[in-house]
Amino acid sequence: MNNEQLKQEIVRLKKEKNAIILGHYYQRDEIQDLSDYIGDSLALAQKAQECNNDIIVFCGVHFMAETAKILNPSRKVLLPDMEASCSLAESCGGDEFARFKAEHPDHMVISYINCSAEIKALSDLICTSGNAEKLVRALPEDQKIIFAPDKNLGGYINSVTSRNMLLWNGVCMVHDAMHAENVLKLKVEHPDAAVIAHPECNGALLKVADFVGSTKAMLNYIAQSDNKKFIVATETGILYEMRKNNPDKEFIVVPSGDSCNCADCSYMKLNTLEKLYACLRDETPEIIMSDEMIERAKKPIVRMLEMSKQLGIIK
Ligand code: 13P
Ligand code: SF4
Repeated sequence: MNNEQLKQEIVRLKKEKNAIILGHYYQRDEIQDLSDYIGDSLALAQKAQECNNDIIVFCGVHFMAETAKILNPSRKVLLPDMEASCSLAESCGGDEFARFKAEHPDHMVISYINCSAEIKALSDLICTSGNAEKLVRALPEDQKIIFAPDKNLGGYINSVTSRNMLLWNGVCMVHDAMHAENVLKLKVEHPDAAVIAHPECNGALLKVADFVGSTKAMLNYIAQSDNKKFIVATETGILYEMRKNNPDKEFIVVPSGDSCNCADCSYMKLNTLEKLYACLRDETPEIIMSDEMIERAKKPIVRMLEMSKQLGIIK
């Protein structure tokens, strides 16, 4: 089948099986086009919780599909490629984290949603890049906190809130490999450009950014900005939505590492049209979890969604 036929078949199967496709902004352009809903991790979690389709096909990475299953366990949740992991989730193993937590019994645990269900089950509260700062600010100032697994996001929140959260030593392999020096070079070439960065970038890069925020927050920032040029420090997939929404604006990519001019997450890019088609046709690979794990991991995610509503971050 060629790409056009694959797309037609995906649309047909989706209707026939009462399925919904949820897609993250970092997915391939053609997958974003086929998604019924695209968003950041927070919006996608909320959408997964609310949807009443028989099947949720999650075009993102494993922790996102797992979160969808936790929030809406009676649905069949499919992920086109089960290998679509995340370096942050992989940096934080359950046993090691449980030991770390036990060493700090007076700390509450806030985990970034980019972690496994096992880590979620060991957490008191989950956050995303879209709500982390506000959630942390809403907690009592003397509350001791462990923040896992992203030391860059945690370090950023520490710097803007003057907290001293204990940080797990994980990073996003894509954002952490972007260098402030490259941003400064791009700034010299494009002095009129605003630098926008995802908080998973390292601290040195975030210091030279004009705006730091989640994927959705970056899109909002661009939409309301008078600037015509943006130096973008995040995964390349989001440029599709940025360009679509802002055809009059120019976007310059900050490379991840020194070997290319791109910033692709190899995990996010594992999902392809062929795999999406096969996954809808065969209803596999499916996210399978024990009821016990779903129950334990659900509590801190639901707490996040409830707090986000109370704080006016989501409706
Ligand atoms: P957002 O929640 O900002 O979309 O980020 C998800 C992610 O994996 C970033 O690398
Ligand atoms: Fe994980 Fe980074 Fe890929 Fe996002 S971009 S899924 S944080 S490895």
